[in-house]
Amino acid sequence: MAATILDGKAFAGGVRARVRDQVARLRADHGVVPGLAVVLVGEDPASTVYVRNKGVQTVEAGMQSFTHRLEASVAQADLLALIGDLNRDPMVHGILVQLPLPAHIDADLVLNAIDPRKDVDGFHISNVGRLATGQKAMVPCTPLGCLMLLRAHLGDLSGQNAVVIGRSNIVGKPMAQLLLRDNCTVTLAHSRSRDLAAIVRRAEIVVAAVGRPEMIQGDWIAPGATVIDVGINRVLRDGKQVLVGDCDFAGCAAVAGAITPVPGGVGPMTIACLLANTLTAACRIHGLPEPAGLTA
Ligand code: GUN
Repeated sequence: MAATILDGKAFAGGVRARVRDQVARLRADHGVVPGLAVVLVGEDPASTVYVRNKGVQTVEAGMQSFTHRLEASVAQADLLALIGDLNRDPMVHGILVQLPLPAHIDADLVLNAIDPRKDVDGFHISNVGRLATGQKAMVPCTPLGCLMLLRAHLGDLSGQNAVVIGRSNIVGKPMAQLLLRDNCTVTLAHSRSRDLAAIVRRAEIVVAAVGRPEMIQGDWIAPGATVIDVGINRVLRDGKQVLVGDCDFAGCAAVAGAITPVPGGVGPMTIACLLANTLTAACRIHGLPEPAGLTA
């Protein structure tokens, strides 16, 4: 039987609509307008596109968008001073520093300078620790989006065997923490794991975030498994640039019970969850109830 295609684009549209409704209610009932500040250092083309999309979607959700573009040569002290200003600005509830940062800047130092309550990326060391210890945290957007898709498709995840492939701080590690919190039995595998195929074959949930085009093959997938493909890889095919995931889509879709496509799967969920996190941050900062179903 062909796999169900998990349509992240449609699902993200639903999340954005819920955020928009809640933002309108927050404004009407409490006079609070959530604000998201995005900081872009340099002119990396992919980052520039992401940042523009974030700004557009923030405004569409009824929130305030503040974009700060800094030269690639900016002094670290000047970037830290901007973060300090944004931490103190009452109009700003969420702060995102687009990664990667230029090599002369200590990214950890910058991320840890963000007020943890405004850390909508969930990268501050205190949010990482809070997630790991089961305390209320800001949760990284891409893993949060994956979790929403999994819960929507599977319902309760308790007891499921989940394999996360990839150990990045942005996706793999927080994804493993979230699945653990939802009572999955979690294996965190990576490109150096021995016999990755055998590990993946045991999984009822596969989250592929290894950053290698089409690495995960159909014969690695257990029949009926749910496959979440976080990869976005540009490859040349017949002389044309195309986007592919970390999974061989056709091969995996022939075996899986459900799978996210690339593009149109996890990608659109990331910005939707950034908006959800900004709304959550605004509610927490103002001591108001959090939006239901938009947090982990
Ligand atoms: N660059 C690629 N993904 C991300 C992300 O989720 N957050 C930030 N800040 N930068 C990124």
